[in-house]
Amino acid sequence: MNITFNEKNRSFKLDTENTSYCIAICDEEGFIGHAYYGTKLEEEPLYLMRTAEPPFVPSKNNRDRGSFMDTFPCEFPGNGLGDYRDGAIEIIDAEGHRAVNFTYDDFRIYDGKDKIDGLPQTFENEGSLDGKSGAKAKSLEIYASDKTLSLKAVLKYTIFEDSDALIRSVKILNESGKDIFLTKVMSASLDMDSENFELLTLHGSWARERQMDFRPIGYGKTSVGSVKGESSHQEHPFMALVENGATQESGRVYGFSFIYSGNFLAQVEKSQFDSVRALMGISPIGFKWELKAGESFQTPEVAMVYSDGGLGKMSRTYHDLYRNHLIRSPYKDKERPILINNWEATYFDFNTEKLLDIARQAKKSGIEMLVMDDGWFGVRNDDNTSLGDWNVNEKKLPGGLKHLVDEVNKIGLKFGIWMEPEMISPDSDLYRAHPDWAFAVPGRVGTRSRNQYVLDLTRPEVLEHTWNSIKTVLSSANIEYLKWDMNRQLTDLGSLGLDKDNQGEIFHRFVLAVYELQERLVNEFPNLLLENCSGGGARFDAGMLYYGPQIWCSDDTDAIERLSIQEGTALIYPLSSMGAHVSDCPNHTVGRVTPFETRGHVALAGTFGYELDITKIPEEDRNMIPEQTAMYHKYHSLVRSGDYYRIASYRENRYYDCYGVVSKDKSEALFTFVQVVGRPNYHSRLIRLAGLKPDAKYRIEGEETELLGKTIMEAGILVSNLWGDYRSKLIHLTEVV
Ligand code: GLA
Repeated sequence: MNITFNEKNRSFKLDTENTSYCIAICDEEGFIGHAYYGTKLEEEPLYLMRTAEPPFVPSKNNRDRGSFMDTFPCEFPGNGLGDYRDGAIEIIDAEGHRAVNFTYDDFRIYDGKDKIDGLPQTFENEGSLDGKSGAKAKSLEIYASDKTLSLKAVLKYTIFEDSDALIRSVKILNESGKDIFLTKVMSASLDMDSENFELLTLHGSWARERQMDFRPIGYGKTSVGSVKGESSHQEHPFMALVENGATQESGRVYGFSFIYSGNFLAQVEKSQFDSVRALMGISPIGFKWELKAGESFQTPEVAMVYSDGGLGKMSRTYHDLYRNHLIRSPYKDKERPILINNWEATYFDFNTEKLLDIARQAKKSGIEMLVMDDGWFGVRNDDNTSLGDWNVNEKKLPGGLKHLVDEVNKIGLKFGIWMEPEMISPDSDLYRAHPDWAFAVPGRVGTRSRNQYVLDLTRPEVLEHTWNSIKTVLSSANIEYLKWDMNRQLTDLGSLGLDKDNQGEIFHRFVLAVYELQERLVNEFPNLLLENCSGGGARFDAGMLYYGPQIWCSDDTDAIERLSIQEGTALIYPLSSMGAHVSDCPNHTVGRVTPFETRGHVALAGTFGYELDITKIPEEDRNMIPEQTAMYHKYHSLVRSGDYYRIASYRENRYYDCYGVVSKDKSEALFTFVQVVGRPNYHSRLIRLAGLKPDAKYRIEGEETELLGKTIMEAGILVSNLWGDYRSKLIHLTEVV
């Protein structure tokens, strides 16, 4: 890993173990150009221009300044000055003009990575999972300015010793002496020649989150984004430019993952000259940020990953990056308690006795924690009331939380709780006392969703009240886990705390307030296990992983639906972050009936837990739980820390699914095979596994044979027809030493 500045060429080169990223300063005016991103190079490539007539640069050929601006591969493109492609920044200056463009001033290369305020962020780590301790960072800051406006930009780049990722963000400083507005500030922009790329994004819906979606990149703009105040079920803060024909193992892939949990834009634009500009940042829709004289604005970070080894290598790079340099929780490297959650077991219909019955039976089966979900507070017997009234419903839980938690602890289980702190029900004491605490556009009928409104957390008094509610609940008993939910998206935004010029700041200020609350939470309750959630998986993003090590993946707990949801999620996020539970059948979302065994195998690819009434499920299923909990203990450290390999995808072949994890030292591997659809006259299939040491011998658990890794990866192993739909099998390999 190194970052160098070549004085003669005025160019920067950022080298990770396998990649290079090159930036060159161009012309006397100091245009900051993107020169290269890809496989590691020994020298800098300096070909920045594509079609303009020579001499290329404005200082020698101002006659063609327009075509220079519109073809130049720019690191941080401005707006309104000849580059007709979408820029990375748009402003309204004190005179109402929108032109802006940054040129080079200076730079700083330094060891480490400076903290940024108020946002989730990657960091240097002391001990990485693969045992290499002291994974260091190096950073580059390029200082640039718009010389006419005296507006400054700091383009920030960080690389790590143990990663091929590149972290980018931008800080804008208003030194103009006048107030301006920012109407768009992207965190990263990348100009490249188009190389027959496809765009890979993750699309979804409630109960169908993060489905992989490929499309050709045509001329013009193609984008995904969210304007829902969260990263959303529908589109995801991620995109990848994937070379046509790339597979899990080969081909060039450029990934962009946004470390942010609110509105976003991920866009590619293919120009008339066949160049591609990728942009990622906070969505400009509804965004208007007043930057007063002397103030600065820091964008969230984007993690870029270049892989010359297909999608698989990109995924493994993201998993290690996020495990080693983003997730802070002490649970990151620890086995998580196997929990049982009462949502699908009881919904709102429970009381202390019912929960204790579940806890007693759960204890006998090897489960370690009871999580009480929605419905324990106010008068919440359905989803129409009481959000905001975080006091225990003593009719359901006589003696309060403390009594319940003590009893659960006596049984020998830990206790966890559900809250939805950002919300307010119109039918709540809180709303009756403070109707103005909900976001609303004065004079309009408020848009309710699940019969609730969103609290205006941009107001300090509302934020303080919300924090006190969380703190009071968590301090009232021995609560060791919190499921932080968010069950509606943002719309109808109006804040009484902001004046008319600042209403366009609400979306981002809301996300900053959520981060502020979660930052307080991790500081005040450092040992709490935090699982974020949003109507299932609508806020499964890298931003939230900075605060909690796991996120509820989806309200869809059906083992078969989960295959594609977990495949899309694991494209970027480590398996240890994916909240996954075994639930009852017929499944509550799709009505499908799958074997209990398969439900256990699929949930094992995530955090693993249960979401069912253990006192009521068939005895045959209940009897399988001790085996499953033992399976979790046997494999969880491998699943948590290993390298992920996707072998086959039911999404593509419509028959079966296969994926696995291989330990960092490659001495152990666990693959999961799911036969989704049984096939007649089809006795077995050869599966070529991946990630093993070619010259090491492996024993396959339950079989006599020992095979070389190379044989297993090239010739494959035989998996017999499992007879029936939805059947599954674990394939456990250990190196013979
Ligand atoms: C959301 C969550 C569920 C459950 C309910 C409770 O939908 O995703 O797991 O907690 O809320 O209302």
